[in-house]
Amino acid sequence: MATIPNRALQADLEQAVNEAIRGFADANPRSRVEDEKAAASMPGGNTRTVLFYNPFPLTIARGEEQFVWDIDDHKYTDFVGEFGAGLFGKSNPLIREAIVKAVGDGTVLGGPNRYERLLSAELVKRFPALDLVRFTNSGTEANLMAVVTARAVTGRSKVMVFEGGYHGGVFIFGHGGSPINAPFDYVMAPFNDTEGTLRLIEQHAADLACVVIEPMQAAGGCIQADPEMLRALRAATEKHGIILIFDEVVTSRLSGGGLHKILGITPDMITLGKYIGGGTTFGAFGGRADIMNRYNPRLAGAFAHAGTFNNNVMTHAAGATAMTQVYTPEVAESFNARGDALRGRLQDVAARHSLPMTVTGMGSIVALHTCTGPLNNEHDVDRRNPWKDKLIFFDMLARGQRITNRNTMLLCLPMTDGDLDTFVAAFDEVLGERAHLLAAD
Ligand SMILES: Cc1ncc(COP(=O)(O)O)c(C=O)c1O
Repeated sequence: MATIPNRALQADLEQAVNEAIRGFADANPRSRVEDEKAAASMPGGNTRTVLFYNPFPLTIARGEEQFVWDIDDHKYTDFVGEFGAGLFGKSNPLIREAIVKAVGDGTVLGGPNRYERLLSAELVKRFPALDLVRFTNSGTEANLMAVVTARAVTGRSKVMVFEGGYHGGVFIFGHGGSPINAPFDYVMAPFNDTEGTLRLIEQHAADLACVVIEPMQAAGGCIQADPEMLRALRAATEKHGIILIFDEVVTSRLSGGGLHKILGITPDMITLGKYIGGGTTFGAFGGRADIMNRYNPRLAGAFAHAGTFNNNVMTHAAGATAMTQVYTPEVAESFNARGDALRGRLQDVAARHSLPMTVTGMGSIVALHTCTGPLNNEHDVDRRNPWKDKLIFFDMLARGQRITNRNTMLLCLPMTDGDLDTFVAAFDEVLGERAHLLAAD
């Protein structure tokens, strides 16, 4: 991890962060009390690690369109975007109406419903890799299903994943992995190192069931996979009968047909999640007809795929409306173009202040890094200075701009040009005020 060469400057930086944190704590007494109460029933008061930060996370009381209010009644423009699930904002009227209608017709119906058919038809129409699709309740579950499907179909055991990858709570591959990962036999490949990856594929080909990759690593820092590497992966997996799975849980929003459509690469399977349920619990896996037909209950020997809530009416009513009436391919295009423009403006601001910062991402997904680029993998991203990251996080929060605590931003549809201008102005102000602390690389 990068440290500022000048010790005194690093000490000043840490002091500034501690002051910002004190200011935050003083401004948010109710959130502090809520956090303390929560610790009596949840470990550390928390049920979702990514939402935790010291000294305590804000308790969010309500949201409307692109805004949230914390329990101390501060208003924020919300760039957390529920890590991708909040694409429609907090209160899209069409989606709300669809949910209310579905709930009015009764929930937990215990049979196929019309909404799952509408949503599956829309997804198959839009995503080139999807001949057939099945639903789950989260992106994690979608990836679990994709991996076990690949293992069962190929009769092989190994799963290739990438350094810095993230595919859900039991598929964490940053910094060597996690003790609570699903216990598959993993082959860890170096992200954006085509030769190294191809060598590993050749070495393990006979045992490799699948290669799972995010075409842009999201949690890993919004780092795009080199299209040439993805093309090489496509060719090598095809040659060896290995199932290529693109995790598009986050990146599917980048066009009407996902990132694989932009790249013109068709993997054997993709996984989906986040926003596609219109802001409700969602996941899906799908791909080639011959693979997915292994789940066809009309065929002898089909695999059973269970899940009480796989087709819950709230998700599917919300998702069908969201994908057919709100996030149409045309909307996806203009929305992501706005994100591209914002990323350029933020990089310009950093350059104007002569600060060692890099803004990564694609389309409506943006990440702010306190180090110089190029950033091609988690080792590059590790050059960030965590104290600088925190300073930016708390300073932006104090200006009513909520980004994730890893300094990523996910835009939502209700955001106006004015919201983006206000964000850029606040960022400019923070970098200007803190330039001396953010300067050293
Ligand atoms: C690329 C990627 N895959 C899978 C997941 C897991 O999705 P979920 O949180 O719905 O389980 C995430 C969540 O952030 C993700 O970023």
